[in-house]
Amino acid sequence: MLILGIESSCDETAAAVVENGATVRSNVIYSQIATHKKFGGVVPELASREHLEKIEGVVDEALKTAGVTYADIDGIAVTQGPGLVGSLLVGINFAKGAAFATGKPIVGVNHIEGHVYSVAFEFPPPEYPALALVVSGGHTNLFLIPEPEKYKLVARTRDDAAGEAFDKVSKLIGLGYPGGPVIDRLAKLGNKRAIIFPLAEIKEKNGSGLSLDFSFSGLKTAVLRYVRENHIEPVIDPEHPSEQILDLCASFQNAVVRALVRSLRKAAQKYQPKTILLAGGVACNSELRAAVKQLAGELKIPAFIPSPTYTTDNAAMIAAAGYPKLLRGECASWEMSADVSLRLPNVDVEAATPKKKARYKL
Ligand code: KG4
Ligand code: ZN
Repeated sequence: MLILGIESSCDETAAAVVENGATVRSNVIYSQIATHKKFGGVVPELASREHLEKIEGVVDEALKTAGVTYADIDGIAVTQGPGLVGSLLVGINFAKGAAFATGKPIVGVNHIEGHVYSVAFEFPPPEYPALALVVSGGHTNLFLIPEPEKYKLVARTRDDAAGEAFDKVSKLIGLGYPGGPVIDRLAKLGNKRAIIFPLAEIKEKNGSGLSLDFSFSGLKTAVLRYVRENHIEPVIDPEHPSEQILDLCASFQNAVVRALVRSLRKAAQKYQPKTILLAGGVACNSELRAAVKQLAGELKIPAFIPSPTYTTDNAAMIAAAGYPKLLRGECASWEMSADVSLRLPNVDVEAATPKKKARYKL
């Protein structure tokens, strides 16, 4: 089954052709970073305008690279949400137009579920239950996946997403947008023990102990305070940052990684997954990749960590997530529209802990 995937939820216009949910025939990504860089973050109005300009060419290129035409495609999968409304609408309306003109079925895909499927191309099918850490610029979620397409949110950020923290700290110290890649590069040159940023302790809402949830806004404030108190000047030339900046990058990144891995470890001990999945733009981070690999090694659980092309926003993951739905014969109605806060249905998997038998409430 050949699926055309389309993704436009944020600042990447992307299209891909994927065979049977696992073989990438093409994966075209047009990044708008150059447009948004000078504003220090994504400007929604500019993003939707640029999607509109690029989408047709990007889809054409995906079909051409795969050596197919619309006639060979069995279905279209498009990101329905969450994301920026104007950006999502460009992808959805283009996909609907293509589906209408060609008579092919179309399904809407949750962007976060797409990220989970980014492991579909370079690894065997995961064994379940799986534990997936999805860390990006907009989301930081830890899911227990008792079986394909069933998700139990076991931890989420209470404030900023991990990628957002990288982007905000980067802006604060003059390293620009996006922050993740540059902080990752500079952190390798600094001392991660130079500044010990404490990790947030988050209480369960019902007061029953510590939660697995994340919080990064306190860390961002701690970095701001450190910068002010130590009179650290913003970077002028990112090729020659001061030692203080290098240490700050290394220590900040280490605090983010420690927080992510602390919850992942606790959740893995609680739910005893058979596979650990790492996805989303922040999964490009070299320290996080190494830390998750090390944890997985200690716990003797395989970790699936995709290549950076698949962890950042792309349409191959959307096509892969759409595959089981199209295979079942699902087809969205023409009323399908963008849903900026689309959630994954949360299954009740109290029972997915090893001792009990799974019971799902859908
Ligand atoms: O998944 P993604 O492409 O888009 C969203 O769905 O948000 O993730 C983009 C985020 C940005 O915040 C960016 O700074 C972060 O991923 N990122 C990284 C790295 N590469 C990208 N964060 C840390 N280390 C990296 N190497
Ligand atoms: Zn994303």
